[in-house]
Amino acid sequence: MIGHNKSLLILGAKSDIGIASAIEFARNGFNLQLAGRDIHALEEKYKKIASEHEVSASFHELDILETEKFDQFLRSLGYLPQVILCVIGTYSTNINNYKNFQNVIRTNFESPAILLGLFAMKFQERRSGSIIGVSSWAGDRVRGSNVLYGSSKAGFSGFLSGIRNKFFASNIHVMTVNPGYVKTKMTAGMDSNNFLTTTPDYTAKKIYKGYINKSNIIYVKPIWRFISLFLRLLPESFFKTKNL
Ligand SMILES: NC(=O)c1ccc[n+]([C@@H]2O[C@H](COP(=O)([O-])OP(=O)(O)OC[C@H]3O[C@@H](n4cnc5c(N)ncnc54)[C@H](OP(=O)(O)O)[C@@H]3O)[C@@H](O)[C@H]2O)c1
Repeated sequence: MIGHNKSLLILGAKSDIGIASAIEFARNGFNLQLAGRDIHALEEKYKKIASEHEVSASFHELDILETEKFDQFLRSLGYLPQVILCVIGTYSTNINNYKNFQNVIRTNFESPAILLGLFAMKFQERRSGSIIGVSSWAGDRVRGSNVLYGSSKAGFSGFLSGIRNKFFASNIHVMTVNPGYVKTKMTAGMDSNNFLTTTPDYTAKKIYKGYINKSNIIYVKPIWRFISLFLRLLPESFFKTKNL
């Protein structure tokens, strides 16, 4: 597969952060490859975005849990993108149901890691490419109230860190995005402080800027970097006695 210099593949392109990022990259001249479950539902919307910014858009069916279809998915792309943005994710705190537990771990960590690993090896052959994974500050220090989502994101952040280091010498850039709270479908109905919360558009601008600057890890609102650092410095004994 040859590549297009300015092309972005979005894994989970129905995500609110994904749609906003598509607009930001298209505004900067990137052709779009849009992958997700039942992605054709957004075809009209994306075609409009593409025509407004005079870029191309192609659509690719992807359920990230169907790992056995990954080879077929890779072939369906037609060309190898320059940038991949993975925004697939699901939120749950319910650890009582093992099927739910498995779904969260597989959706947030295992399956994206397998697919991004395949792309990293293709990028290594080409000796160029950027991988951007949207993870979460919740994975920086896993708390008792958020064991499931937090540990799935801890796994994903760890994977991104590992491939960043493994493939650096092959001219591959890997960026971890920790959004904090963003107003999206995922957080609808959750209580969140306005000062700590941001929008998909603002998040998309930060992702694009991080990509241009070849950043390693970004916190969309800088305050989250400090919150995360503070939480990581606290001893386990503190967390054991608090309902955090
Ligand atoms: N919003 C926040 O405050 C926040 C904070 C920290 C991290 N994040 C992370 O940011 C990323 C984007 O989330 P968002 O806030 O934009 O929420 P969102 O709009 O709910 O996006 C999540 C996307 O993941 C897709 N998805 C879930 N399971 C999938 C599967 N098996 N195969 C393919 N796609 C699947 C969903 O597809 P469908 O549309 O088909 O359901 C949805 O489009 C996620 O990784 C999330 O964990 C968000």
